[in-house]
Amino acid sequence: MTTVLPMSGRIAAFPFPFPEDRYRYSTNVEPAARPNVTAAGQWGAAVVEIDDDYRAELAERAEILAADPTRHAVLPHMRPAAWDALLTLMRELATAYPGQMSLEQLGGDEWRWRNELLGECRDFRYGDEASLGQEPLAYITSQVQEDIALLDQRNDQLYVDAGVVTFAADWSFGFDVGMSFLEIHGPVPRVRKEGVITRAHDFLKRLQPHQPYRRTNWTMTIGRRLDVSTERYPDWGPDREMIRCVPDDEFGRLVHLRVEVQHLIRLPDSGALMFLIRTYMLPLEELATVEPWRARAAKVFAELPDDMADYKGIIKYRDRAAQWLAAAGESVVPEAVV
Ligand code: HEM
Repeated sequence: MTTVLPMSGRIAAFPFPFPEDRYRYSTNVEPAARPNVTAAGQWGAAVVEIDDDYRAELAERAEILAADPTRHAVLPHMRPAAWDALLTLMRELATAYPGQMSLEQLGGDEWRWRNELLGECRDFRYGDEASLGQEPLAYITSQVQEDIALLDQRNDQLYVDAGVVTFAADWSFGFDVGMSFLEIHGPVPRVRKEGVITRAHDFLKRLQPHQPYRRTNWTMTIGRRLDVSTERYPDWGPDREMIRCVPDDEFGRLVHLRVEVQHLIRLPDSGALMFLIRTYMLPLEELATVEPWRARAAKVFAELPDDMADYKGIIKYRDRAAQWLAAAGESVVPEAVV
C-alpha cells in the first residue's frame, strides 16, 4: 500500500542532525545565524527561532518553574551576565522578528521591550531587577523557547554558574549548577579518549563576541515530552520499557527523534559564555515521510555502538526504531517524489 503524507511546517523546519550514515561524537560546531538547508526545508537562519509551539512551550516552562525552583539558578557573580544575556537575546529577537518585537533605548540605561506575540510592552532599567519585575534570566526565558545556561570563565576553565533549564534531556540542571564544563561531560562515553570535550573546551574559551556558533545533539524521546529531566524520571523512565510492547503504528507515533540546536555565544559586556538549547521533536512516522531522512536515520540507529545507545537511554528500543524506519521505506512514498 502507498501512503502520501503532507509536508508540515514542523517537518520543513526540523534540524535533521545526521550528515552521514554513521554517527560518532564530535565537536561539530559551525557558524550560526545562516540557513542550513535540509532535504525537507531549512532551519537556523536566526539564532533564536519562534515556531507554532511558542505559547505552549512557554506555558509549559512557566508551570515547571513554578513547581520546581531548582530549574533556575543565578549564582551572585553571574548577575551581570544574566542582564547581558537578556539584552543580547532581545536584540536577536528584534532583528529576527521586526514586525512583532522591538527593543528601544529610551536613554541611558532605560529600555523598552515590545513583544506583540505575548502582548508585552515593558520598560526597564538595565541592571535594576525591580524595574523588570523579575530576575533577568527568568524574564528572558519567558520570551524564548530556548533553555539557557551561562558559563563563567575563570582560571582557564568554564563553569556552569547560571541558567534556566526546564527541558533537559536526561540530566539535572539543579545538580550540575556550579560544576565545570569538564566535570559535566565526565559521564559521556568515548569523549575523553577521543579528545572531543577538551577540544570543545579550548574552542569555547577562545570564542569572541558577535561570532555565534552552533551545533546539534540528538537522542530519542517517547511521546512529545519536553521535560525529560532527571528530576522527572519517575514520570518518563518507565516509557522506555512500555514502548517495546506497543503495536507498530503506535511505535511510529510515539517515538520521536529529539534534536537540540545548541548555540554558543560570547556575551559582549560580561564576557560570560551563553549556551542556548532549543529542543525539536519529530515522530518517526513524520520523519519517514522524508525519504533521505528515513533511510539515513535507519542506518544511524542500526549502526550506533551500544555504549552510546546506552548513554543516550535508547538502547532498549533503538533496534526496533531502525527496523521500523527500514520497513517504512517499503510503504511510504514521500510527497517530494510523487
Ligand atoms: C552532553 C558535547 C557544550 C552540557 C554532551 C554529550 C556530548 C557533548 C558529546 C553527550 C551527548 C549524548 O550522548 O547525547 C559537547 C560539545 C560542546 C558542548 C562538543 C561544545 C562545543 C556544552 C555546554 C554545556 C553542556 C556549553 C553547558 C551546560 C552538557 C550536559 C550533557 C552534555 C549537561 C549531559 C551530561 C550528562 O549525562 O549528565 N555534550 N557539549 N555541553 N552536555 Fe555538552
